[in-house]
Amino acid sequence: MTDFDPHVHEALKREIVGVYDRAARSYDRVGIKQFSYYANRFVEKLDIAPGAQILDVATGRGALLFAAAEKVGPTGRVIGIDLAPNMLAETAVEIEARGLVQAEVRKADADTVTFPDHSFDYILCGFALHFLDYPHALVRFRQMLKPGGVIATTHPYVPTDNAENFERWKWLFTLTREVFPPDFVPPASWIAPNRLNTPDRISAALREAGFVDIAVTQEEAVLYFADEEDWWQWEWSQGSRFWVEGMSPEGLVHFKTAAFARLQEMKEPQGIPMLDGALLAVARTPGG
Ligand SMILES: C[S@@+](CC[C@H](N)C(=O)[O-])C[C@H]1O[C@@H](n2cnc3c(N)ncnc32)[C@H](O)[C@@H]1O
Repeated sequence: MTDFDPHVHEALKREIVGVYDRAARSYDRVGIKQFSYYANRFVEKLDIAPGAQILDVATGRGALLFAAAEKVGPTGRVIGIDLAPNMLAETAVEIEARGLVQAEVRKADADTVTFPDHSFDYILCGFALHFLDYPHALVRFRQMLKPGGVIATTHPYVPTDNAENFERWKWLFTLTREVFPPDFVPPASWIAPNRLNTPDRISAALREAGFVDIAVTQEEAVLYFADEEDWWQWEWSQGSRFWVEGMSPEGLVHFKTAAFARLQEMKEPQGIPMLDGALLAVARTPGG
């Protein structure tokens, strides 16, 4: 049985979407806000022309959607799809508040979403491809792109080869594991990013789906938490929520108390620094 067994995958999807739905209010609005940080940097690199037609798959709070909407301007179109109602509601409010006639969100499952062939110049997917049945979804994304159209996906990447940062934050990995029994095996939903966490794995998935001119680049940045409370809000606002939601009440108290003591020792004048990384994959459909 693989992760993409339909029954296993549907159950995983319900868990994943549930966690992000509960996180939606604070997602990318507290802590290091790495999703909009990388979305802005990566959209800058894509050279998107005014008038372009774009699909943002698993849009969340619209980090890529808003960056792309600025590029396409009022003559273009950016459609964001997601399955989490609270993500969709928050993003719709922001589209309205910003007066963006070129952007909209729709509730749709990225695993089965269908637009006519050759509908889009770009398909974007930020930090979410690993949650999908991507071997099948990528083939459909290729068909929905125009010939020569571009897919751009971002992926979490932990800069473990940076010894200083690794030493600085090692306690967090140890402390998180300490809260669970020694033989605890994290559920597949908690560790889904591991499916696509190296340039080789991402390139292989894109190649197997028929994309060409594949390039994967790596970025790192030191981003800052304002203080330990800001870090705590962040823990609940993104992927680490899988872990904190899974802790027992006593485990959670121990985790928070021990973490706050370590974070206070790490404070610098600008805040609490974290070296964060991301991978950007860009590829084209043949032709064009
Ligand atoms: C880590 S967030 C990424 C959000 C956004 N792309 C960004 O870069 O900040 C993952 C998002 O994927 C969405 N998601 C997960 N599985 C999905 C599916 N099958 N269809 C649509 N959205 C899905 C979740 O609801 C969540 O909003």
